[in-house]
Parts: sequence; structure tokens; C-alpha cells
Amino acid sequence: MAKRKAAILGSSGMIGQRFAHMLDAHPYFEVVAYCASDRSDGKKLADVWRLSDIHLDHRLGSKSIRGTNPAALAKADVEVVFSGLPSDVAGPIEDECADHGMAVFSNAASHRMEHDTPILIPEINPDHLASIEAQKKRRKTQGFVVTNANCSVTGLALGLKPLVDEFGFTDINVATYQALSGAGYPGVPSLDILGNVLPYIKTEEEKMNAEGKKILGTYKNGRFIDSNISILASCARVNVRDGHLEAVFIRAKDMPDRKIVARTLSEFRAKPQKLKLPSAPERPIIVRNEDNRPQPLLDADAGTPDRAKGMAVTVGRIRVDRDTLRFFLLSHNTIRGGAGGSVLNAELAYKEGLI
Ligand SMILES: NC(=O)c1ccc[n+]([C@@H]2O[C@H](COP(=O)([O-])OP(=O)(O)OC[C@H]3O[C@@H](n4cnc5c(N)ncnc54)[C@H](OP(=O)(O)O)[C@@H]3O)[C@@H](O)[C@H]2O)c1
Repeated sequence: MAKRKAAILGSSGMIGQRFAHMLDAHPYFEVVAYCASDRSDGKKLADVWRLSDIHLDHRLGSKSIRGTNPAALAKADVEVVFSGLPSDVAGPIEDECADHGMAVFSNAASHRMEHDTPILIPEINPDHLASIEAQKKRRKTQGFVVTNANCSVTGLALGLKPLVDEFGFTDINVATYQALSGAGYPGVPSLDILGNVLPYIKTEEEKMNAEGKKILGTYKNGRFIDSNISILASCARVNVRDGHLEAVFIRAKDMPDRKIVARTLSEFRAKPQKLKLPSAPERPIIVRNEDNRPQPLLDADAGTPDRAKGMAVTVGRIRVDRDTLRFFLLSHNTIRGGAGGSVLNAELAYKEGLI
């Protein structure tokens, strides 16, 4: 099939740069426009690049960034839009792109809780894509918006999916240790975070519960029905560059033993693995047995093949103590929890013939 013409919105930001890297030489998409605010108009990708783990070659670095203009994108026959826009501006811009007939894959919170917009994680709820038919009707175009979850929810929801399906867990508590790149660039002022931990991230704890319920819920007869899980979260910002670490506590009457939990997690495979989507990790959940893993520095990039680096979730320190299961979970916030999540969503939509 022919490659789809794509644009990146917010291409000078933390998520936008990940998009630029992940979509470079992609088998399904060809990026023809790198957009940001008018402040970045005329700059090159090399002028804004801040991903220390990715070598930016001259070819990609010399791509020009331009202001964001949905009508101009439509005129240039852009079919697919990857959005790394801040939530306070994303809503109307993404709507305009969708209303011009483009398929928008968004990282922003603006559309996540709408009744005809999925928060898609292809390993968990690929059937939620059905909701875009209702959205197309509302918009009266072939365009639509598909969102991915908040970066702290994505990894957790992936880790919970096989456990909730197998053991019916509903009572989830989680404490997060979230990386600085999760706050965008320039993010938290350096003097607030050097040698420090910030025990509050605005609206994060509420989002973890609301989005988790929608993601793990069902889509039936044209509407989303929330899962009955409850996620009680305490979120903190820590002095780490990339990778959200989460301490998960689950209570249940009948708790399986540690080995069964570890096996259920590590054997989990789903639709993206069956379809062999280019950015799907061969093993979506990697279980580590060492006492000192997962660590952001060592494990945030987990995932094979190369295109799926940072797309796997790592779980470790699984402990069962009577009615309580505890473990640590780590996921890369700007890859699996950000740009990579949107790219995988778009790959699924492409493979399903929706774009
Ligand atoms: N960082 C994460 O781990 C993460 C994970 C999941 C989801 N998200 C979500 O992804 C989105 C982007 O996050 P980020 O961390 O990449 O933020 P960021 O580093 O602050 O980047 C924001 C981008 O949006 C552009 N922009 C700002 N205002 C604009 C406007 N009015 N019109 C057009 N472009 C505009 C910026 O362009 P200029 O450089 O020209 O200002 C920049 O390219 C947010 O909605 C965030 O909540 C982030």
C-alpha cells in the first residue's frame, strides 16, 4: 500500500521530536510537514533538538519547521496528523484538521473524554476504534481524532490489562515517580527540582482514574462503558530525564502466587503483536527478576525490534503478601506514553484500512 502523507504538530516539542524520529523512514507514513507555533517558523529541526539519546543526522536535522495551518495541510493533501500540541491549544486545531478530513492521532488531553473519541492502546482496546464511525458522522467528514492516554496511565493500563482479565482485580493503588520530560520543554524550573521531589502534578491523579476506567472499559452499542476498576494514585515529579516509575499495590481476596502473576504478565501478547505492526514490541511486558530493576536509566528504552525501543513496559519486584500484590512498573513517557503510542495507534488504523 502507498505511504500516507503525514504532518507533525508541535514538532519542536518533546513529543514532536520523538515523532520526527519514529516517523523517519516509516513504512506506512511519509512526513511532509513539520509544524509548531509561529515562534518556531523558519527554524530547522536541528535548532530545537533536545533528545540526547537520538543522533540527529543532517538530512532530518535540516527539515524546516513552519507555523500550524490546518487548511494549508489539507491543501497539501496531508491525510494523517500526529499531534504533540499542548492541551490548552490542541482542541480547536485538531478539530480543524479532522474537519478537513484528516486522521488526527493526538497526545493532548483535549478530546480524550469525548463520547465518540477513543483513548486507544492497541494491546488493550483495539475495538474502541469502532467509535470513530460515530465521530465521522458528527463531523460530517472522513476525518477523526484518536487520542492516546496520559503518560502515567499508559504503562499502568498495559501492566494491568492481563491481570484484570485473568484475575478480575478492581482495587488498584499506585504511587508514581515521574520523569521531567513528562512536563514538556523547558518544564519544571531547575531550582525547583535539583535535589528535590515535587509531590504534586496538576490533575494527574484524577486523569489516571478517569482515563484508566475508559481504556479498560468496553465500547458497546455506540457508547463507552467504564471498567469497574478504581485507581487511587499519588503522583510525584522526580529528578529523572525519561521514564515514569510506578509502585503498584493491588488488593484482592483470592491472590494468585507470584510465579503465576509473573507468567501472566510476561506471556501477554495482543493484536499489535499478531499483526506485526512496525512499532509493536515483540514482548509488550518484560518481567525482570533482579531486586534492583526496573530503573529509568537502564530500562526506559526496553523493547525489540529497534523500531519498538521504549515501547515495552518493564515490571519488577513482584511480591505477593496474603491479599496484596505489589510490583514496580516502568514505561518511557515520551515514547510508549507519548509519540510511540500515537504511532502505534496510527499503524493499527492503517492496517485496519481506516486511513
Ligand atoms: N512529555 C510527555 O511525556 C507527554 C506524554 C504524553 C502526552 N503528552 C502531551 O503531549 C503534548 C505535547 O507535550 P510536550 O511535552 O511535547 O510539550 P512541549 O515540549 O511544551 O511542546 C509543545 C509543542 O507545541 C507547540 N505549540 C505551542 N503552542 C502552539 C500553538 N499555539 N500553535 C501551534 N503549536 C504550538 C510548541 O511549539 P514552539 O516550540 O514553537 O512553542 C511545541 O512544538 C501535551 O498535550 C502533553 O500533555 C506529553
